[in-house]
Amino acid sequence: MIETGDFKLDNRLVSTQELEEDTGVEKGLRPLSLAEYIGQDKVKEIMAIYIEAAKRREGALDHVLLYGPPGLGKTTLSAIIAREMGVNLRITTGPAIERPGDLAAILTNLSAGDVLFIDEIHRLNRAVEEILYPALEDHAIDIVVGKGPSARSLRVDLPEFTLVGATTRAGQLSAPLRDRFGIVQRLELYTPKQLSDIIRRSAQILGIPCTADGALELARRSRGTPRIANRLLKRVRDFADVIGNGEITEQIAKMALNRLEIDELGLDSNDRRMLDMIIKGYGGGPVGLETLASALGEEAVTLEDVCEPFLMQLGFLSRTPRGRCATQSAYIHLGYPVQQQENLQLLLDTE
Ligand code: ADE
Repeated sequence: MIETGDFKLDNRLVSTQELEEDTGVEKGLRPLSLAEYIGQDKVKEIMAIYIEAAKRREGALDHVLLYGPPGLGKTTLSAIIAREMGVNLRITTGPAIERPGDLAAILTNLSAGDVLFIDEIHRLNRAVEEILYPALEDHAIDIVVGKGPSARSLRVDLPEFTLVGATTRAGQLSAPLRDRFGIVQRLELYTPKQLSDIIRRSAQILGIPCTADGALELARRSRGTPRIANRLLKRVRDFADVIGNGEITEQIAKMALNRLEIDELGLDSNDRRMLDMIIKGYGGGPVGLETLASALGEEAVTLEDVCEPFLMQLGFLSRTPRGRCATQSAYIHLGYPVQQQENLQLLLDTE
């Protein structure tokens, strides 16, 4: 079970948060090997080499940090790493490990070579993090036994293991923790072509007839994120069943996605609300993230993790030292008259 925060925005169809429905059917959709995994070519190539080298040495793989926006396959990749290494995978999350003892219990139950996956590793608390340092470096933990003057520190040896840490915000990791990862890889948003390959693969597994154009239409509106692509596939399938003959065609996909208020570029009502607020409420920006979040009644981290990467990839949003700005392309996409002057100058200044 993957525990995640409960942000308001994340109830939406294009949420990147893992939902209950994803963990059921989507588990069957997850690729099990690097060869089956579509996209992230650079990460795959380099991980294949490190995995092969570790296997030849008959040692554990070095600790791996995966970072990037949510929903891109960090958990999937960690499961593939464990599988390709031929070891067990233990999954937990930063906020679930509340006390040093919780982590000690997990670590002392690992077998040699195992992969421990910690999602949202930036949310580990300081006391827990400190237990992790010697575990990562020396394969040992120091446990304090007893209380007061009679307290003693006991060193417990651990098997060699691999920590795979995942985070949406690498910048929030403390330097000592970040430095203990030998392998650091950034996952990128997927291209429409890669997403359409993922959708066609998922459609085949789920037995959903889907044309190439239908898959591409879904892909274009999936915000570069496989988790969203697979979720949209399931929703659009319902439209295809009820309104069409069961096949997802370009026409059915367009009609269904329009009904779901996901526009041609994949923006949903929350993305548009964010851009609208910057444009109408703050003259196109700059506006500080916290101000924007409270104006929208959302969490700043949600805007930052969920909306911003995609809006920035589309070139609709820019971050400046003085806050967020909507770009000219955002004005055009949302049908506002293009604004130039001062904000444009500000964008140019920061480039
Ligand atoms: N399903 C979800 N993500 C995937 C990926 N990267 N490759 C193949 N299938 C997937």
